[in-house]
Amino acid sequence: MNDWEFMKDRTATQGAVWRSTDGLLYRRTGGDDLREEIEFQRLAASLGYPVPEIVDSGSKSGSYFVIERSLGNASLHEEALADALRDGQVSDHVIKAAASLSSKLLQAQARHPLPSVPWFEKAAFAKDVFDENPDFDTPRVHDMVKRALDRMALLPVVHGHLDYGLPNVLAAGVIDWQHHGPIPLGYDVYPALDIVAFKGGGKGYTIGPEQRDAYVGALDETTITLVDQRVSEYLGDFLLVKCFFFLALMRPTDPARHDKHIKWQYRRALFSMGLDQYESSGTIDTDAFPTLGRFTAEHR
Ligand SMILES: Nc1ncnc2c1ncn2[C@@H]1O[C@H](COP(=O)(O)OP(=O)(O)O)[C@@H](O)[C@H]1O
Ligand SMILES: [Mg+2]
Repeated sequence: MNDWEFMKDRTATQGAVWRSTDGLLYRRTGGDDLREEIEFQRLAASLGYPVPEIVDSGSKSGSYFVIERSLGNASLHEEALADALRDGQVSDHVIKAAASLSSKLLQAQARHPLPSVPWFEKAAFAKDVFDENPDFDTPRVHDMVKRALDRMALLPVVHGHLDYGLPNVLAAGVIDWQHHGPIPLGYDVYPALDIVAFKGGGKGYTIGPEQRDAYVGALDETTITLVDQRVSEYLGDFLLVKCFFFLALMRPTDPARHDKHIKWQYRRALFSMGLDQYESSGTIDTDAFPTLGRFTAEHR
């Protein structure tokens, strides 16, 4: 029998995460969402994706639970944070670990292409974005999305994580498959360091252009062997989709929550900036994004 320590409530779904006191296992609880997530995680494991091994699952007192093996003590996000606190910057070790795991994921994804299905709506949370921001539901925005989708149609469609980023990546694998859905090859991994900028600089570290170039360059060495293309050519298209993803579910229902309101306005501003850049250059430079602090100061 194991004793379990509470870790945290789950983000964006019901339930919680627990760790065994010996640190070797994680336990998640939840409802039908979790059941579906775990079904997918089992499939991913069978396809050779780097994911935690599931050792038990079932129902107990009306809720679903799953137990999986730990992939290690710290996510790459936690390692990056520790680096920044100690040395003032993220170490190349973290960048290399991210590139190595991302390459493994790319290889497993490319080995199992899917029939080409529509993927944008789900990956981008497009319905939520347009419902919450009807002023962005314009022919110009739809034209830009079409331009990006037409380009990405040249990539194979594969099973994706949809919320791939340092907090869900450990050197040994990828956790937290709750969102998963079809994506063009590369959509998960290529933007993984750029998306730090969407968090507004409040997460304790930034990743500079040299480290991003090194990461993306390492991934290109993998994709050139997999699909005969440098998939970094699509980074701008992927980032346009990320502008949607990070704007979804941001509009506060409670008008008194000024803190939430400003974060929503911030993501709206990043969306507009991303769109302008994509329109004029076909790429998005996340270094040009203001921090949340600067944005807030300028919008008092
Ligand atoms: N198999 C695992 N191996 C190592 N750490 C894990 C594992 N599963 C969960 N964790 C830890 O628990 C935290 C929360 O789990 P996660 O599934 O990402 O929940 P959330 O949906 O809230 O992001 C992770 O950030 C990580 O630190
Ligand atoms: Mg997570």
